[in-house]
Amino acid sequence: MKLLFLLLACIISTSANKCNGVLFDQRYYEPQILKDGLNRVRQLVFNRKDNDIYFLYNQGVLNYYGSVGYYNLNTKLAGFFKEIRNATSISIDEKRNRIYIGSIDGLYAVGERRIPEKFPLYEPIQHLFFNNILYFTNMRNKMFTFDTDGVRIVEDMKDYTADSFVVDGDGNMLFTNGKKLFKIKLGTRSPAFELVTRTVTALSKDIEDRLFAASLDGIFVYNKYKFALDKISNLHEIKALTFNNMLEPIYVVFDLLVKLKNPVNCVEDTFFV
Ligand SMILES: *[C@@H]1O[C@H](CO)[C@@H](O)[C@H](O)[C@H]1NC(C)=O
Repeated sequence: MKLLFLLLACIISTSANKCNGVLFDQRYYEPQILKDGLNRVRQLVFNRKDNDIYFLYNQGVLNYYGSVGYYNLNTKLAGFFKEIRNATSISIDEKRNRIYIGSIDGLYAVGERRIPEKFPLYEPIQHLFFNNILYFTNMRNKMFTFDTDGVRIVEDMKDYTADSFVVDGDGNMLFTNGKKLFKIKLGTRSPAFELVTRTVTALSKDIEDRLFAASLDGIFVYNKYKFALDKISNLHEIKALTFNNMLEPIYVVFDLLVKLKNPVNCVEDTFFV
């Protein structure tokens, strides 16, 4: 009897589940507040090796003045890099365990000892992103790459300017220009196309190389087979988005650093009540 009851419950729970939680990419999660008081955050990066969150935030009052802070999820130790003046963007090189920081003075890198090291790129950086190579935009929003051979223009982006961008391992790039979100495939010389006109609040990439765009009306993932965006969550007003090694989203909303924890308990809602 008990077994029958369990079986029945199982069958029903698959068809009429009611889960309390936040839906993100077909899964329900429980939101957990990791930290509050994070004002005016613009970007987040997660270092899964050390369990550190790096965040870019605005310290300025009248004018923008960017700072980069960090927060360790294990030790709760927090701090910021006061030696970096007016930071504009952050990204991570997972293999080298290195955080790149773009600033008004050029490029810095932060390694395991959390000491910023100046790299030989001295022009002001507007935005940067690392995926195999470091991509950055200058103050006129033109895009370049930087490596040991120096600085080179990104040919495919010659006719475009970008405010912010992300790139996957196949050379798919999402970039914003004003309120518009574009997609371009690097290395193909084919033009960019507009995906959507929608205020994008954050771009991100997970460890499975998927590209995300958070906007005022939800979070979208780029579907490289359909060349389009799929909506995966109603979460909105997200200022910055990243993921941990279990693919759990970590984001900033208002002044809260939130992690979505999986799984949540789902209750069957039509049979027993
Ligand atoms: C910081 O850099 C931004 C450009 O990204 C600029 O608009 C702003 O005025 C700078 N702030 C200061 C205090 O220099």
